Parts: sequence; C-alpha cells; structure tokens
Amino acid sequence: MRNRLRAMTLVTALLVGLAGCGGGGGGDVTILRVSLNQTETHPSYIALDNYSDRLEERSDGRLRLDIFPNETLGAQAEVMQLVSDGIIDMAIISGSQLENLDLDFRVLGLPGLFDSVDHQMPVVHDPEIVGDLYTSLEDSNGLTVLGGLTQGSRHIYLKEDIDGLADLRGKKIRVQESELNLAMIRALGGSPTPMAFGEVYTALQSGVLDGAENNEVSYYTQKHYEVAPYFTNSNHLVGLDYMVVSTENLNALTPEDRALVEEEWENTWKDHTQLWEEATQEAITETKAGGATYIEIDQDEVREALEPLADEFLTTPEQRELYDKIRAAAGEQER
Ligand code: GCU
Repeated sequence: MRNRLRAMTLVTALLVGLAGCGGGGGGDVTILRVSLNQTETHPSYIALDNYSDRLEERSDGRLRLDIFPNETLGAQAEVMQLVSDGIIDMAIISGSQLENLDLDFRVLGLPGLFDSVDHQMPVVHDPEIVGDLYTSLEDSNGLTVLGGLTQGSRHIYLKEDIDGLADLRGKKIRVQESELNLAMIRALGGSPTPMAFGEVYTALQSGVLDGAENNEVSYYTQKHYEVAPYFTNSNHLVGLDYMVVSTENLNALTPEDRALVEEEWENTWKDHTQLWEEATQEAITETKAGGATYIEIDQDEVREALEPLADEFLTTPEQRELYDKIRAAAGEQER
C-alpha cells in the first residue's frame, strides 16, 4: 500500500512535469523515462543504465534515459497503462502482461518453447521469425515493442522442503497474472495464486503463499530466499521480458534519435544476455550463503506435465506457425 501511494505521488509529479519537458528540436535534451520493477543490482537495471550512457554519448548529451527501478511508478500492469497513455516513455514488462492484451504473445510465453537463453535471444530479435508481433499493439494500445530481455530459466521455490512434483499438490504458488501462468501451475499440481511481483515477499513471509516461481536472479535480488529457502530445479519456463515503448512518444522523436534508440537497443539486449549468466551464478552463491537449499526434482516429469499446454493455448494457425518456427530454430546456435 505504501508503495502504491508513493507510485501515485510520483506519477502525479511526472504528469505535472510533462508540461515543461517537450522533447525534440532546438538543442533540447530529451529524457526518456523507463520503468523497471527490479532493483539497481539486477542485470536489467545495469543494462538500461549502460543503454542510457551510450545514448548520451552518441547524441552528444542530447538523449538519455531516466530509469525508475523497484516498482516506484507502480506494478507492471499499471505501468503498462502509463506507457500506453504516454505518461512514461518506456518500461520493461513481462510477457505475461502482454498476453492479457493480445493472445499471440502467449506463444512466446509457452513452457517448453525455448530450450535455453541462447536459443531464445536471437530468435526473439529475428524479424523473419516474430513478424509483425511487436507492432501489433500500436493501434489497439499505443504500445510498440522494441525487443526482449531474457528472464532466464524459471524454477519453483517453497517455504518447505519437497521430494518431488507430487508434493506440490495443494500448495499455493504465486504466479504472474495471466491464464497461461495459472494453467502452468495447475498442470504441475499446485494451486496458482496470481499476484504482482512486489507483493510476493510479504505474502511468502506471512504464509499467504507456500511458494513462488522465478529465476535465481530475482530470487536473490528480491530476497525471496529469506522466506522461501527451498529452491527446486523445476526449469519449467525460459521467461521473457519486453522493452515496451509509447508509440506516440517514439514517433515524436527526431529520426536521428529514433535511430539511436533502436540501434542501441540491439546492444542493450546483447549486453544484458552477457550479464545474465554471471548474475545467475552470483545469485546461486549468495542465496546458498544466505541459507537457501537447492533441491533436485525430476525435470522429465515437469516437462511431461506441461506438454499439453501448447495444444491448449495455440488457438490459431498463425500462433502455431510462430511456435513451429521457434522450435525449428532450437539448437541452431550450437551448429
Ligand atoms: C522476473 C521478470 C519480471 C517479472 C517477474 C515476476 O523477475 O524479469 O519482469 O515481473 O519475474 O515474476 O513478476
């Protein structure tokens, strides 16, 4: 609640500030506001900070980002609306949220679609594969997707130890807010509880939740290991965040600035992908030192339980085609 109040105050300040800030022409400095729900130590913050530095350098100080981390502008669902309304320029938003705007985004959120980060990252930046998915929200929602940042492999973690998947039965597991995420935890035998990211720590601590699912990096940076110390290797999903931009604000940039934003985005997702592996290893070391136990469960059992989701959630020939193209690219990076 305190978070929400703080977010509302900040958004009001932004709205007032907007009047004085019009971008464009005459040597003005253009500052693009970016919302992020991660801490300043998370690789997404670091990659965005580096993005800002490169934009500033290449534009001779004319263009940079102002990054708002830690959900200070609100949770992702609210922030998406602020970007849509052009109050914020950009945000890093989980694919699960975009699934609620356009079902085609479900394809890229399906468990079993990506084998690894190395499979995922080139594919989601290949226009031959994603086609016009990233501009599909422009008319309906005023949102343009620049591309993706990996969420790495996601795993289930719990307050109590388990021996295997069977022990998940009836356990309340927090999921991101989408039908696909609910179905995923149901298929694994758990009881899914949708909730915003920033509320998970308290819900785990108070026992409202028995567990959650995320990557090692968020497990560490959000301190969830303090209140849910049993981290499985369920590896049920290679998740994806998107860089979402206000279409109107993007179109208002000068052609030079727009080109810089797009070119340096390419370097940003590559930078982030490099930072990811090291951050994951560091998170494992630090959470273990902080008392977390990493437990092994049968990954084949997880994969088999999730297999039916593709047939259930791919509902159009276009979605099936996108899915098949992405699966066909699996393993290519190793050749
Ligand atoms: C990851 C992801 C976030 C997302 C979060 C969640 O940390 O990077 O964008 O919000 O998972 O589980 O909500």
